[in-house]
Amino acid sequence: MRVLITGAAGFLGSHLSDRFLADGHSVIGLDNFITGNPENIAHLAGNPRVEFVRHNISTYTYVAGPLDGVLHFASPASPVDYLEHPIATLKVGALGTHNALGLALAKKARFFLASTSEVYGDPLEHPQTESYWGNVNPIGPRGVYDEAKRFAEAMTMAYHRYHGMDTRIVRIFNTYGPRMRPNDGRVVSNFIVQALSNQPLTIYGDGSQTRSFCYVADEVEGIYRLFMRGDNNPTNIGNPNEFTVRQLAELVIELTRTGATIVERELPVDDPKVRQPDIRRAREMLGWEPAVSLREGVTRTIEYFRSVLAR
Ligand SMILES: NC(=O)c1ccc[n+]([C@@H]2O[C@H](COP(=O)([O-])OP(=O)(O)OC[C@H]3O[C@@H](n4cnc5c(N)ncnc54)[C@H](O)[C@@H]3O)[C@@H](O)[C@H]2O)c1
Repeated sequence: MRVLITGAAGFLGSHLSDRFLADGHSVIGLDNFITGNPENIAHLAGNPRVEFVRHNISTYTYVAGPLDGVLHFASPASPVDYLEHPIATLKVGALGTHNALGLALAKKARFFLASTSEVYGDPLEHPQTESYWGNVNPIGPRGVYDEAKRFAEAMTMAYHRYHGMDTRIVRIFNTYGPRMRPNDGRVVSNFIVQALSNQPLTIYGDGSQTRSFCYVADEVEGIYRLFMRGDNNPTNIGNPNEFTVRQLAELVIELTRTGATIVERELPVDDPKVRQPDIRRAREMLGWEPAVSLREGVTRTIEYFRSVLAR
């Protein structure tokens, strides 16, 4: 297969490129580096099955040659990033998705959308099944991301229904691991970087809000299987093991052996109180479930950040 991956220089896009390459496929990576890092794909330089295009997918996009898949992963993804780039976030979810869908249509390629658990907003149903419609504030600060992804899902389903296009939608739940940026503001990277820099770990609120954290290798395997043999309905891919943010902070302190302390800060607006995927669909359809424990995944991520911070 020859696939286009938008957002290929990002955290997930780069791991996903590796996964396709490992199975012998060819990858065209596309990225404008708004939140990506060239180092994430530096190891692919010189690989004859890799091409890279520096381009903004929210503008007119042309790719030469045949394509079997278009995987749209480009988007600022952490709260720090989408609050800094609110309009670019809305554009890449709307115009970027439209351009990526148009390209897939022209090439008769399968289209794959990276959506998010944020489409469920601050959920009133717990755990979240794919049939839940969500509880999103469209005009709050996080609305730029949540609504862009909801629009992207609607557009993907419209192409599926109107053009009969082969499409997939993955709802990704919090994923962590090597190649996250130290300053991306996500909770796992925040805690690890703070602990390794001998700073107190900042918890927003009292830390009783829950999250489910999926290690990147598990997430990417689920995404890859969904692309290869899923169907067009949205599918949750994430780790259903739920932890409070305080438990995560305590684990990071234990595993970094830094004796760091914890400080509480004010809770941001519209911060979801709970988050846990129901992954029955993925289990049944793809035979997939996460295999890496939080302790193991956090240990590997600490090793990564130790090497990054030592540079
Ligand atoms: N990491 C997670 O926990 C998570 C959770 C839910 C959804 N997602 C989704 O997965 C995708 C990847 O997220 P990530 O964590 O790898 O984030 P990331 O910021 O590391 O990667 C996104 C990449 O997209 C690129 N990009 C953004 N706008 C672009 C544009 N207009 N044109 C070209 N490239 C552009 C960025 O430069 C970056 O390399 C995103 O769509 C995100 O919404 C991620």
